[in-house]
Amino acid sequence: MIMKILLIDINPRVIRHWGKSLGGLIKNGDVIIHNGTLDTLDTGSKVRRSIVSPGNSFGFLGGGFDLALQRHFGGITFEKYVRYKLVHSYVPVGNCTVIPLEQFARDGFEYLLHIPTVVTPVIPDFDRPDPQHTGYRVVFDVTWNALHYAPSGTEQLVVPGLCTGYAGVPIPVACKAMSFAIRLFHLKIRQVLSQDLINAMIMCFLGYQYDAFISDDCIEECERVGIDWDVLNNFNPNKDPLDYILPENL
Ligand code: ADP
Ligand code: NA
Ligand code: NA
Repeated sequence: MIMKILLIDINPRVIRHWGKSLGGLIKNGDVIIHNGTLDTLDTGSKVRRSIVSPGNSFGFLGGGFDLALQRHFGGITFEKYVRYKLVHSYVPVGNCTVIPLEQFARDGFEYLLHIPTVVTPVIPDFDRPDPQHTGYRVVFDVTWNALHYAPSGTEQLVVPGLCTGYAGVPIPVACKAMSFAIRLFHLKIRQVLSQDLINAMIMCFLGYQYDAFISDDCIEECERVGIDWDVLNNFNPNKDPLDYILPENL
């Protein structure tokens, strides 16, 4: 069974951007979108859930979606538990720690996937002149890690906007990077594309094209599945829609 992804956010702009770039996956039910707060999520269903905490490097749960998580799962005691599980240690941005909710589990939630999106919220890492390395890449990495670290029994992975709050990545940038990671992940687990081509696509999206890491087979496969290699190789995430380089309904 393919893990479903439930994207949740109170900000309607985030919801709108997801809707634009995830149309196909929403239509076939792989991605569900919820515009609302964490406590308005349906709790009746019996699905096994994991939830992403877009945290900071020190594990405090004092703001944004983390604060909602803290309140939902037990307040300051829960924050203490999370920091204890992180060994009160510095966790670099993008690292994922899978924390079993144990006595704090409720509403089907079994695991918290703690992933820092900021070191601390004092200063945004996003730098307008270089959105690829300071925006797209961070959000892609955080999303990619969340998808890959979700424990195997997870039926539904609940994910808020990543870097769309305190982290200060512009919403269109963050949502596009999230959508690209989610769509590539589906193409990977469905085995629609080879791992080599997926890797090449990530290089092109993030602006790290390196000929020595891209095989002729991979370029052939690209053309075979109907993706124009030149379009992919020159992809600019600021201007080009994802549908230029991804199959439309996936
Ligand atoms: P980051 O540091 O990655 O920017 P934030 O927690 O500041 O993380 O924000 C992430 C997203 O969570 C934002 O898009 C914000 O709109 C959303 N958000 C904040 N609080 C809630 C909540 N209670 N319910 C749903 N979404 C929320
Ligand atoms: Na954060
Ligand atoms: Na947060």
